[in-house]
Amino acid sequence: MRLSRNRSSLRLVIALSVLGAEVLVLAGCRTTAPQPTATSVALPDMPTAAPTSVPTPTTQTWPEILTVAHRGGAALAPENTLGAFANAISIGVDMVECDVHLSKDGELVVMHDPDLTRTTDGRGFIYQMNLSELAGLNAAAKFRAAAWPVEPVPTLGQVLDLVQGKTSIQIEIKVEKFLGRYTGIEQKVIDAVTARGMVDDVVIISFDFPTIAEVKKLDPRFKTGALMSTVDLNQSSKNPYDQYVEEIIQQTNADYIMPSSAAVSDLLIKAAHARGLKMGVWTVNTAGEMRRMAEWGVDAITTNDSVLLKQVLGK
Ligand code: G3P
Ligand code: CA
Repeated sequence: MRLSRNRSSLRLVIALSVLGAEVLVLAGCRTTAPQPTATSVALPDMPTAAPTSVPTPTTQTWPEILTVAHRGGAALAPENTLGAFANAISIGVDMVECDVHLSKDGELVVMHDPDLTRTTDGRGFIYQMNLSELAGLNAAAKFRAAAWPVEPVPTLGQVLDLVQGKTSIQIEIKVEKFLGRYTGIEQKVIDAVTARGMVDDVVIISFDFPTIAEVKKLDPRFKTGALMSTVDLNQSSKNPYDQYVEEIIQQTNADYIMPSSAAVSDLLIKAAHARGLKMGVWTVNTAGEMRRMAEWGVDAITTNDSVLLKQVLGK
């Protein structure tokens, strides 16, 4: 009985000692304090602290990489709305991204799809409707079962007025294959930006290379970005990367190469940097992929979740 009680006491003391060591080891991982030495008492039937089971914290940060809120941050607010852009500003992103189309009466309308169905309570195509008709729609109608307040469909001018002096902006000129280009949209975007003195705060981007080339031709002061989808990149993967980059420069004269992160490679990033181009990737929504892109040395990351991106980059 006495022996048994002594063994129990000894086990209790050692268990507390080992638990204490675990707590200290865990605490040591969060600070720069030296690691405590484990108890020198060891019993074969007692578990011991296993330092290798403690995850190594990621200490590397990339504050130099630009954070870009995709459509204003589509995971956090209704995409391409003034509420989304205001939210992105409050998070403290470096840039927001928006998409533009032309209405029937030639106004620059901010929305991703050419038709209204997916994001609004309306139907039909933007190009078939006047701005006054579009203005009556709710651009937040389909966001998380309409839990967000009503948001008007914004014009590019309204978005520029909102972000001016607060953050930079990527303006994507949309070109739908089945609709073709909106006549004169490049000059209208340039005029809207220039009228507000925001040329240095804007990058005009597009999947349509002639559109990018046209912007540079109309006003070489504008920075531009050539977007590339996974399909574009896979089709070009047979060519050497430096040759591919050269072709893009010849076709667009762009400042940024902007591929889908799903198909980009570190070799393409190196080739773009070697030719003096910046590299922006989209749409990166997981911490693991954000880190991979950062380690590969991209200059900008576009995401639906700017809060997560800022955490990962340490900004
Ligand atoms: O930033 C690039 C990205 O916006 C392109 O894709 O379809 O979201 O416009 P999408
Ligand atoms: Ca876009």
